[in-house]
Amino acid sequence: MKLSPSIYTADFGRLGEQLRDAEAAGVDCIHLDIMDGHFVPNITFGPLVAAAVRRHTRLPCEAHLMMTEPERYFEAFKQAGVSRLIVHVETCPHLYSTIQQLRRMEVQVGITLNPLTPLSLIEEALPLVDMVLIMTVEPGFGGQKYIPLSTQRIAAMRRMLDRIGSAAELEVDGGINIETICDARDAGATIAVVGSAVFNDTYSVVESVNMLRAAAQQCPTNDTGDE
Ligand code: DX5
Ligand code: ZN
Repeated sequence: MKLSPSIYTADFGRLGEQLRDAEAAGVDCIHLDIMDGHFVPNITFGPLVAAAVRRHTRLPCEAHLMMTEPERYFEAFKQAGVSRLIVHVETCPHLYSTIQQLRRMEVQVGITLNPLTPLSLIEEALPLVDMVLIMTVEPGFGGQKYIPLSTQRIAAMRRMLDRIGSAAELEVDGGINIETICDARDAGATIAVVGSAVFNDTYSVVESVNMLRAAAQQCPTNDTGDE
């Protein structure tokens, strides 16, 4: 299972170092949580910080746009070096046009939805996207608890993607840690966003990543020995 650490819970005073640690630990991607204080109550950062992250890592960066009218900022995030933009269906009433706009910009397209937004809202969009993100907490804050009913939603999305033969990534975001990673993996997720279980005051980044990998290796469905 791929890991995409969210810098939401990183130490911003030594962000470069934390990014280097994550890269050294062998993670696959860096997750940027963009919050606008409007679609979600919290405010984080914008393209300026995304560009700073870009300068400190070779890993691909994805931006999770928890904001209204996200299309106003697509170009700025692309210019900042973000290679995958993830939009919320709740903020994109004209989702087809939004996806086409991203396609023309030649960035990877991710779509996501809040924990109780019906999956059927994005079913027709699935052939058009590179990634689906299932939110496993309400967006807006790091360090929340995984919502248990998320597991059946991940499994249902897995079935939808398999039914159309889609190779899109299935990502999960919120409350993923050594206790919950197997629920997500066994339900069919291919990428886990991890904030507080990677960037925290208890373990180093490398220790945290190793613990997550070890936990994923012991999942019931893992018969290959891969994590
Ligand atoms: C929630 C964000 C998540 C979150 C991850 O709004 O999208 O990416 O910060 O943090 P943890 O893993 O601590 O839940
Ligand atoms: Zn996120």
